[in-house]
Amino acid sequence: MKRIKMGCTTLSIPAMALGIMRMNQKSVPEAQVAIQAAYDAGINFIDSADIYGGGKSEEIFGQAFSQMQIKREEMFIQSKTGIVPGKRYDFSKEHILHSVDEILERMQLDYLDSLVLHRPDALMDPEEVAEAFDQLQAAGKVRFFGVSNFDTAQFKLLQSCLSQRLMFNQLQFSLKHTGMIDFGMHMNMVDKPSVDRDSQFLDYARLHKVTVQAWSPFQYGMFEGTFIDNDGFPKLNQELQKLADKYEVGKNAIAAAWILRYPANIQMLVGSMNPQHIRDSAKGAKIRLTRQEWYDLYLAAGNYLP
Ligand SMILES: NC(=O)c1ccc[n+]([C@@H]2O[C@H](COP(=O)([O-])OP(=O)(O)OC[C@H]3O[C@@H](n4cnc5c(N)ncnc54)[C@H](OP(=O)(O)O)[C@@H]3O)[C@@H](O)[C@H]2O)c1
Repeated sequence: MKRIKMGCTTLSIPAMALGIMRMNQKSVPEAQVAIQAAYDAGINFIDSADIYGGGKSEEIFGQAFSQMQIKREEMFIQSKTGIVPGKRYDFSKEHILHSVDEILERMQLDYLDSLVLHRPDALMDPEEVAEAFDQLQAAGKVRFFGVSNFDTAQFKLLQSCLSQRLMFNQLQFSLKHTGMIDFGMHMNMVDKPSVDRDSQFLDYARLHKVTVQAWSPFQYGMFEGTFIDNDGFPKLNQELQKLADKYEVGKNAIAAAWILRYPANIQMLVGSMNPQHIRDSAKGAKIRLTRQEWYDLYLAAGNYLP
């Protein structure tokens, strides 16, 4: 597995993580198969969130991982907090601290390697977040911190009050979700793709050494389904198949290689619970698409160039 530097540190992490958002739909033995498939492919990084399956994903993970042979320190384990589904976003100190205790209990862990704030809370008080982070770090409950779905200004504002450097920002990025790069190629135009909805975060991340974690790498829309082998995307699947044949891999590997070809040191969050799909995705980290192959896929996904 290709390894990348984590944020501004010299620590290395795999270019792919296993996201466990969908683990609540699996039995403990099935979860073990998924975790082992990822680990054997070099994916020793887990991404979770307190809300996945209403906490059930973390419970299943905890039961599965605690019975496996993988040592705790060989797996980087991250979770997220800050969303109270359907009610509010909550970055209060009280909520963050309480949520971490619950995560640790569900996942059967003594500490998290990383804690990520899930989606911006309009009422965020950066000083209060800083207090929570300091307390969690001093107590040995969390090693590193990050955010998710933050724009550049929100990221800078929070960072300005923290004693730790933020390592991650999780953002949606895939062949069917390319807003973060479209506007750059449509610069100075008046068409739809020229609109920057993501405040140039990818460039900020490259300049300031923040690891962007790409979520839902095989989905279109917001969890509407996968575009892989989906009749709704014939051109894209034709192009994926052509390159899959060339590189002797499956389509997941090519879709993953497309994300990782973007030169921003991206870490991709694989959400599959199917060991075959996980293994195939991992193969994508070994493939370096040519420039033309990368653009051919971008165009086959329904985009155009000015
Ligand atoms: N920060 C955020 O706001 C945010 C939001 C969403 C997700 N995330 C993170 O990102 C991770 C990944 O998200 P995701 O699960 O939406 O990503 P994903 O990997 O794009 O999608 C996984 C889904 O696609 C299916 N799939 C993948 N390859 C397939 C294939 N070749 N044929 C048929 N089905 C296929 C999987 O089914 P199988 O299991 O059968 O392969 C699974 O249902 C999550 O687990 C979570 O950690 C973060």
